[in-house]
Amino acid sequence: MTETTCAPVTVVNHPLVQHKLTLMREKETSTASFRKLLREISLLLAYEVTRELPMTNRRIETPIQPMDAPTIDGKKLALISILRAGNGLLDGILELIPAARVGFVGLYRDPDTLQPVQYYFKVPQHMEERTTIVVDPMLATGNSTVAAIDLLKEAGAKDIRFLCLLASPEGIKRLQEAHPDVSIVTASIDSHLDDHGYIVPGLGDAGDRMFGTK
Ligand code: URA
Repeated sequence: MTETTCAPVTVVNHPLVQHKLTLMREKETSTASFRKLLREISLLLAYEVTRELPMTNRRIETPIQPMDAPTIDGKKLALISILRAGNGLLDGILELIPAARVGFVGLYRDPDTLQPVQYYFKVPQHMEERTTIVVDPMLATGNSTVAAIDLLKEAGAKDIRFLCLLASPEGIKRLQEAHPDVSIVTASIDSHLDDHGYIVPGLGDAGDRMFGTK
């Protein structure tokens, strides 16, 4: 039997990321603080998820002399937010990569089956030529992420990275089985999922905490 080699899973252990994540996990953290921390952490995670982007040189002139200077190669990145919680990560990343193209996948989780149900899908043109970064704070069961990436591949996406704040071991396994080519960047791999599909110890419902809903 041949074993599939999976794209890497990177846990960003940087002290700033881990400190901010601890603040976000605390149940007393306010909606305003949670949102601010998520935006700050997304900048740090974006640094990691873009580490291996293809580079090329461009001829420029400094005030002193011409040089071949490094620049990111290829078409503009596609940032894909899995609604609604993905938008919390998206906003920060767009500050770092303002020229990126943006798409949205609307999926909600059926509370009984925990299966994703699609209600919206809009992505940039020429997905096959872009590096695609899919963002969703929580990789829990992995069902929504797998469904979103299925749709993105149908739309042509090939080079796909997934960025989240927290991942469960179950979610990573599910994603790697369905899409072994997709690399994962996260701030933490938590212990497990509970019976309702929540990450333990986790931080609760990311969407509710960021938007102040319940
Ligand atoms: N979605 C969340 O917001 N939190 C979890 O723990 C799992 C899924």
